[in-house]
Amino acid sequence: MKIEVINKKINEVEADIKIVFVVNKDYDHKSVEDKKTLEFLGFKAESEEVCFLGEKKTVYVGVDSLDAEELRLAVGKAINVIKTTNAKTVKIGTYSDDCPGVNIKAMSEAFILGSYSFEEYKTKKNPLKIETITICLDDYSRPDVSVTTAQKAVKVGTIIADSTNYAKDLVNTIPHDMTSVRLAEVAQELDQIENVTCKVYDEKFLEEQGMGAFLAVNRASHIPPRLIHVIYKPKNAKEKFVYVGKGLTYDSGGLSLKPGSSMVSMKSDMGGGAAVLGIVKAAAEIGLPYEVHAIVGATENSIGPEAYKPDDVLVAKNGTTIEIGNTDAEGRLVLADCLCYACEQKPDYLIDMATLTGACVVALGEYTTAVMGHSSKMKHSLMKSAIGSGELTGTLPFNRYLKKQLKSPIADLSNIGKNRWGGAITAGMFLDNFVADEYKDKWLHLDIAGPAFVDSAWGYNQCGASGAGIRMNLYWMIDKSKEEDV
Ligand code: BES
Ligand code: ZN
Ligand code: ZN
Repeated sequence: MKIEVINKKINEVEADIKIVFVVNKDYDHKSVEDKKTLEFLGFKAESEEVCFLGEKKTVYVGVDSLDAEELRLAVGKAINVIKTTNAKTVKIGTYSDDCPGVNIKAMSEAFILGSYSFEEYKTKKNPLKIETITICLDDYSRPDVSVTTAQKAVKVGTIIADSTNYAKDLVNTIPHDMTSVRLAEVAQELDQIENVTCKVYDEKFLEEQGMGAFLAVNRASHIPPRLIHVIYKPKNAKEKFVYVGKGLTYDSGGLSLKPGSSMVSMKSDMGGGAAVLGIVKAAAEIGLPYEVHAIVGATENSIGPEAYKPDDVLVAKNGTTIEIGNTDAEGRLVLADCLCYACEQKPDYLIDMATLTGACVVALGEYTTAVMGHSSKMKHSLMKSAIGSGELTGTLPFNRYLKKQLKSPIADLSNIGKNRWGGAITAGMFLDNFVADEYKDKWLHLDIAGPAFVDSAWGYNQCGASGAGIRMNLYWMIDKSKEEDV
């Protein structure tokens, strides 16, 4: 599917289907050519309300405002209708707001995110019929967005959404196919992008590095672990962003086995790993002025005679000893060693992303990413950019009492808290033990357990993987690069 911009009015352009957004307070606007029919059909132009006039080949969608996210949602609704038709060409206006390009970028993202489908395991495929989306710049609301600005916005939006869909493919692929070894092979292919290199490390390296926590999680798996390290390093890079992703290709819970129903969809436990790969891919394709690293700890949490056990004591890379209270709290063990390794890269910003706790979903719901860390400034900066990206975030605060919950009578730390309250925070505070002192204020922990996997479609997300966390981080880096330009 190609997205193009044209400096014409929407009615001067030929296309199979036209999309029109109706701001509800503006129902009388001249762009609403079919007002009488729409009213007759009971269309109130409420947010996310859709009306498809087949004869007129027009899809109307209600919106509350012309904010970027409102437009993404509206595009998502429209594309769901158009997908069911045989339309090959689609046209739409620009709906630009104060900042030219912002909404064109958002709409481009939504066209690509909304038209995603995962059909790898279907015998009868249903490929997308839409070939071209034409964005008509000379619309009623703002005729002064230049073609160059619009084309750049489309390009960036396309890269962001394509990298999100790339991550969705990785997570949606079944765990039997998307193993740690396979994930490393896929990541290796990123080195075809300019300024990108990829190093893949196996169990021998983990042993040399003293990554006893990561290795223990892998012990019951017949597939070896992989530490994947992808680096995008442009010339004259300004600062260094190091992303660490939990890459559990499957989480059965280990010997502290999950109940059957909780195990379903645990292929999504590599959502953080897939997201960090997507971030580096997009950063390189956009050509951001930063060095960006993705470090993925890839393995599965399985059961078998070799499995690590509750009561075991593990030694992490930084020498910290960890008593195991529950083998299902495995992500933090893999991340512990990966965070130690990440600190050795001397990051200016260190961000880990993980489907870490069910408690996080209880706390914030299934649509929101939890942001944790010591630096309020860094948390706010990311969360501000997240708003522009359309991703939802909320903070969960660390505190001294929950920290005490991680005490162990026989080791430096326990891998679980004394009780289940505040479980997302205790998990975050566990990770804190593996972030070296000088990086404490440069570190954020993002728990994406809620939004990473979609049980029933919402917004422009289909069922399955969502690529949570990718867009907010790319928007963050883009916003930063603009601040520094001024
Ligand atoms: N991968 C899970 C967390 C998870 C749960 C992600 C639901 C997505 C949806 C993680 O490894 C886990 O099992 N955590 C335990 C921790 C507990 C044993 C302290 C949990 O959340 O129950
Ligand atoms: Zn688990
Ligand atoms: Zn897990």
